[in-house]
Amino acid sequence: MSEAAADGAGQGLPVLALRGVERAYRMGDGRALPVLKGVDLDVYAGEVVGLIGPSGSGKSSLLHAAGLLEHPTRGRVVLTGIEAAELGDRARTRLRLRTVGFVYQFHHLLAEFSALDNVALPLLIAGEGVRTARARAEALLVQLGLGERLTHQPAQLSGGEQQRVAIARAIANRPRLILADEPTGNLDPTTSAAVFQSFYGLARTEGVAALIATHNLELAGYMDRVFALKEGRLEPRPPRRPR
Ligand SMILES: Nc1ncnc2c1ncn2[C@@H]1O[C@H](COP(=O)(O)OP(=O)(O)O)[C@@H](O)[C@H]1O
Ligand SMILES: [Mg+2]
Repeated sequence: MSEAAADGAGQGLPVLALRGVERAYRMGDGRALPVLKGVDLDVYAGEVVGLIGPSGSGKSSLLHAAGLLEHPTRGRVVLTGIEAAELGDRARTRLRLRTVGFVYQFHHLLAEFSALDNVALPLLIAGEGVRTARARAEALLVQLGLGERLTHQPAQLSGGEQQRVAIARAIANRPRLILADEPTGNLDPTTSAAVFQSFYGLARTEGVAALIATHNLELAGYMDRVFALKEGRLEPRPPRRPR
């Protein structure tokens, strides 16, 4: 970790460090399709990093490797200082559950549960008491502007509201890292911006590190740092607007 620690002097250990991450897929004819060709990235607590690139450029592949959902073909994934390659399957799963929260383009909320219960559920599964879990869920939903929607079921919420609930759920267990894959991809531009801004505020309050894949360049303008995936590697992009 000495390399990463040196890069991040003054910011502590990165929550996520990627070193030389490569990912190739095996195609039907047996040939390998290289998608990630050597990705290096550090993401620190309290910062929101954007990952842009057209469809097919490898954004999801990168998030899956970073979130320990898939093994990279080559390279290192270090989460909270822990080298993922050195872990067995169970330890790896435990590290993922403890450290990472995921937000997807489609919310995957449980239809029969209220907004509040959707957010409280991961806390209950993690062994939190009912009262504490519900209090935390309510506080998060209030922070995301859903104080009047606690008992609504997903079908009774707008698309933007559903995504806010999904964000609250991802952050409920106090993960150190949020990985979001096109979290506003199915929302209109105005709603996207509003959802993103409340996410940004919450990430800041919670001190969580976030890596967000988006093809929405407008949104990328709000991130602390932005990288474009180009030919399997990351290129830094200047943020378009000062925050
Ligand atoms: N499981 C897979 N098997 C084979 N090819 C894949 C698989 N997953 C993704 N790919 C290919 O990898 C490339 C990058 O995919 P992806 O990471 O989903 O990109 P993005 O999220 O930027 O759209 C695409 O060309 C896609 O077809
Ligand atoms: Mg994708």
